[in-house]
Amino acid sequence: MATNRTFTMIKPDAVENGHIGAILEKINAAGFRIVAMKLTQMTKRDAETFYAIHSERPFFGELVEFMTRGPIVSAILEKENAVEDFRALIGATNPAEAAEGTIRKLFATSIGENAVHGSDSDENAAIEGAFHFSGREQF
Ligand code: CMP
Repeated sequence: MATNRTFTMIKPDAVENGHIGAILEKINAAGFRIVAMKLTQMTKRDAETFYAIHSERPFFGELVEFMTRGPIVSAILEKENAVEDFRALIGATNPAEAAEGTIRKLFATSIGENAVHGSDSDENAAIEGAFHFSGREQF
C-alpha cells in the first residue's frame, strides 16, 4: 500500500479536557508522520463550510456550535494506508461503540463530542487538509 495522507482534528472537548498530549502520543506510537499541525479555532463560517456535507442533518447546528466553542488541533498525517489505519486508531464515531484502546473509547464522551476527526477517504483527506493548511505549512 502506498504512503498517503489523512487529515485530523483534536476537537474542542479533547482540548478542554487536557488530552492533546495523550492523543498525540497515540498518533506517534501508531507510526504516523506529522506533515502539518497547528492550534487554531474555527469560525462559524469555517465549521459550516467544513461540515457542509452534514448541513441537512438534524445535528448540524449542534455540530457547528461544538466545533467553534474552543480551540482545536488540526493536523495532516502521513503513513501507509493512512485513512483506513487512522480510522481504526480513533474507533467508531459513537464512543459507546468504539473498540477498546481506540482514541474515542479512551477520550470521547458522546457521539457529538467525540474527541477527534479522521478523514473518510483519500479524496476528502486532500480537501480537508487544503482547507486548514497552505502548501507552505506542509512539510
Ligand atoms: P466526525 O465523523 O468527525 O464528523 C461528523 C461529526 O458529526 C461526527 O464526527 C460527530 O461529531 C457528529 N455527529 C455525527 N452523528 C451525530 C449525531 N447523531 N448527533 C450529534 N452529532 C453527530
